[in-house]
Amino acid sequence: MVRFALTSLLYAPAALLQIFTKAPVAYYPPSPGGGSQLDNAGGGLGEPLNVIISGLSSPSVLTDTGILHYAQAIGFSMECLSIHLGAPQSANLGDGHGWVNQTLELRQDYGDPDLGTCLESLVGGNHFRVFRQNGPLANSGALFLAVSKEEDVAEGHTIIPDGYNVGRDDMVSAAQGHTSYEGVKYFTIVQNVTGLLAAGSVGVNHGIATDGIVQLLTVTVV
Ligand SMILES: *[C@@H]1O[C@H](CO)[C@@H](O)[C@H](O)[C@H]1NC(C)=O
Ligand SMILES: *[C@@H]1O[C@H](CO)[C@@H](O)[C@H](O)[C@H]1NC(C)=O
Repeated sequence: MVRFALTSLLYAPAALLQIFTKAPVAYYPPSPGGGSQLDNAGGGLGEPLNVIISGLSSPSVLTDTGILHYAQAIGFSMECLSIHLGAPQSANLGDGHGWVNQTLELRQDYGDPDLGTCLESLVGGNHFRVFRQNGPLANSGALFLAVSKEEDVAEGHTIIPDGYNVGRDDMVSAAQGHTSYEGVKYFTIVQNVTGLLAAGSVGVNHGIATDGIVQLLTVTVV
């Protein structure tokens, strides 16, 4: 019996063995697992998941508190007084969990982690939603972010023209290289990934086109 089990294991396909050994991986593309690189913003449309925090980042960065602190290091904070101005969105990261609501939503804090996000809510600015890829089929631990730049409240909090590309680029340029928050120092490497997100505006919320590039951030606590 034992010998049989061992023999089966020896001849098991590499993919099956990976389930047991779970080698660290940056992320898994969502679509092979039935997921999508667009989240669900309602009405059959979605926001692009245009930034991924790699599963190869320092594990402390990939927790809820960790991503909050990292976000603060690059100029974001919790939403103004924890009031959500919009409904949560959901994403299917192809990890076997199906469509799951966002974990967090963070907004640009204009230099004041307590009150700055209230300003963001009034004047518009950059924000992102966080989804974690941690289901049984694709447990990378990576964080998929939907980053966009918004109009102010008077404009009904919609995305600015080209707001997905602009939001991503603003966030990534703030994140790249050395940053710190409350004594924790981060070093962030950026890579461009194509082939996850289709360029253009098909299925994209507000019909705003994107360039199809997803930026992969590997964040190391140094
Ligand atoms: C997502 O959030 C909405 C609004 O709060 C809630 O109605 C819905 O049940 C949530 N969905 C899941 C899968 O948790
Ligand atoms: C990555 O993509 C961004 C956004 O399109 C672009 O500005 C940047 O030049 C690209 N970087 C590389 C190394 O291709």
